[in-house]
Amino acid sequence: MRLPFITSLLSAAITATSLCAAPDGDISDLKPINDWKKLANGVYVASLGETDKLYRYSDLAGAPPKLKALNALPDVPLTKALENDIPTEPDEKIYGYGLQFDKTMRSGKVIELKVDHYSKDGGSTHAPVPFFISSKGYGVFFNTAAYLKIYNQVCNRKDSLSLPKEVDRNPPADEKQAGPWLAVPPSDAVEAYIQGDGIELVGFTGTNLQDIVARYNLYSGGGAMPPLWGLGFWHRTPAKFSAAETEQEIADFKDHNIPLDVIGLEPGWQSKSYPCTFEWQEKRFPDPAAFTQKLLDDGIRLNLWVNPYISKHARIYEDMYPLSGSHTVWLGIAPDYMLPEARKVLLDQHKTDHFDIGISGYKIDECDGYDFWLWPDHATFPSGTPAEVMRQTYGMQLQRMIYKELYQKNNRRTYSKVRASNGAASNYPFVIYSDSYGHDQYVTGISAASLSGILWCPEIRSAKNSREWINRMHTTCLSPMAMLNAWASETKPWTYEDSTDAIRRTIQLRMQLLPYLYTAFARYNQEGIPPVRSMLLETGEAEAQTKSQTRKLDSEEDPYGDGFHQKITEDNTLYMFGPDILVAPFINTQTERKVNLPTGNWYNFYSGKLAGNGTTIIVTAEQTNDMPPLFVKEGSLIPMLKDPVNRTRDMQGAAIEIRQYGTKVRTCQLYEDDTTSFSYLEGEYNLYEFSVENGELTQEKLQQDVEPFYSGYELRKMTEDDAE
Ligand code: GAL
Repeated sequence: MRLPFITSLLSAAITATSLCAAPDGDISDLKPINDWKKLANGVYVASLGETDKLYRYSDLAGAPPKLKALNALPDVPLTKALENDIPTEPDEKIYGYGLQFDKTMRSGKVIELKVDHYSKDGGSTHAPVPFFISSKGYGVFFNTAAYLKIYNQVCNRKDSLSLPKEVDRNPPADEKQAGPWLAVPPSDAVEAYIQGDGIELVGFTGTNLQDIVARYNLYSGGGAMPPLWGLGFWHRTPAKFSAAETEQEIADFKDHNIPLDVIGLEPGWQSKSYPCTFEWQEKRFPDPAAFTQKLLDDGIRLNLWVNPYISKHARIYEDMYPLSGSHTVWLGIAPDYMLPEARKVLLDQHKTDHFDIGISGYKIDECDGYDFWLWPDHATFPSGTPAEVMRQTYGMQLQRMIYKELYQKNNRRTYSKVRASNGAASNYPFVIYSDSYGHDQYVTGISAASLSGILWCPEIRSAKNSREWINRMHTTCLSPMAMLNAWASETKPWTYEDSTDAIRRTIQLRMQLLPYLYTAFARYNQEGIPPVRSMLLETGEAEAQTKSQTRKLDSEEDPYGDGFHQKITEDNTLYMFGPDILVAPFINTQTERKVNLPTGNWYNFYSGKLAGNGTTIIVTAEQTNDMPPLFVKEGSLIPMLKDPVNRTRDMQGAAIEIRQYGTKVRTCQLYEDDTTSFSYLEGEYNLYEFSVENGELTQEKLQQDVEPFYSGYELRKMTEDDAE
């Protein structure tokens, strides 16, 4: 039996409890944690213990912190004292920790953050980002690529000065219970269990929760900026499709008048897969260069499925063998991409075989767990990087290599997919996807991801019936990536005949909204504001919604009395798409739902009529004509394509319609650039600000550096003057 060296690692490790290391023995040489140092306005760094050999997520970020943008924001001091833990107040709430499928609120929960295939109940998932935000106006990022266990206001210390009062749960008949008995008595701190010699914490402040998350994204290099084509409609073909079958599929999309920008090829494009060769399967794709070019001529980009594990049949196997870890995954070797020489071996092959013929990006699969799929925790890697760190960062290492050293180096943007990510990854134009498929979980993922610099694709794959098909299509079309992944189901947008029209209109709506969405991404890149986001980040919403939480004891429904009254900010069935559109998706086969509209006037996107203000309304699929329920904020101007297009390339020279909702009109921005290169980083873009004066559209050029992209702009007033 082989003896894994986990035991020796453990004995050498400092076992830190409650953030303050409590090693086997000596604590005296650990520095106190409460020495926050200011890095930029609203960004503070503190470290504990020995951090020289720390593996920090921030070292793998796509770009350095955007200090200029951060320092242009107001400085909000971090008053949070850090001692042995992160003290919290009784009414404080903790949110976040990456892409989670169950919820965004974490108070009263223990969360284990480990990259894993997915878990439904919080913790270990594809992107378990160790970053939380607090309702008290600060955020903390644990900048260490270790497995973490975080105790969010649970497990009271015996010396706490604010221990909850004991309550006798079973008093005799003549005595009254002294108050609610709580199964999980809230504690007054966030504590963490960390293995390692030390940790680094990054604290964030801001004027509201959106601002705090924006600063985290700016610290991580600014949000990702996809090429415009990446925001169009994606379709992934069945796993064993050939070039001819793919071309036929594209023709079928055309025949059905369904927009399409990207085709994703699944494993069968490779000569061998699981483990992979990264080389073309010649029987299915006899001339990959001609095939890719033909598609490009038609305005279609190709994306390639890969997983990182290399087959003995691969050309690069021999060169990569000494540069890989001790264990195989899916029987392929697992390269150590901490080593520049390993990155070079892979990228030389990818550049010649893929990039140079016009491949637009990848879907990087299987870089997450489960334990039985991945290398074990005692595996070794030639760079000396511990297996645990490799697991927490493998998805980020792959993103860094493909994005920075292939696409950015050659001045071509990519929008790609990856199944694992982690902290400080906001700058990577990679979208996470999953094998899980619960529709409610997929909708929750949209909000959760937005709190931690992660982009999430609630892809559509299959459905029980045409109603679910429509509802799922709504969700994917109102997310960072609109994608049908038919690798196994072989479904097409027109599979359910009775819903094809609604499906087409939904995808067309996505296309029409692209000027608005692309502008939201530019703000993500420059200002850190997530383009699609949780209601928690709606400016003022978290602060305004201070309805009391009620704890109701109910032996059937809620025996532990922890049923919190749902607030809008924690309602993950609602989210914002861009700055001004609230999405209230129908889930599963719903055709009717309740929507709690926040305070302020909200207008029906389609009719322009007032829908409500701080009220609960019912919306039905009949009312929306099978389109997604969308509500627009008072005074919004929404820049959209006047007419839908089937390819994003047809957006060039198209007419823009700016829809005006409500009467107290605000301004809107519109961003334009060359859509595919990195020139925007040199300031080569246009940024316009539109407003309405005396019923007429006005346009101010905040930045004009490239040829105007659209042909013209016209105002469309959606709300009548006397509507209120
Ligand atoms: C899965 C992946 C699916 C599909 C499949 C192909 O791991 O999540 O989306 O790509 O592999 O074999």
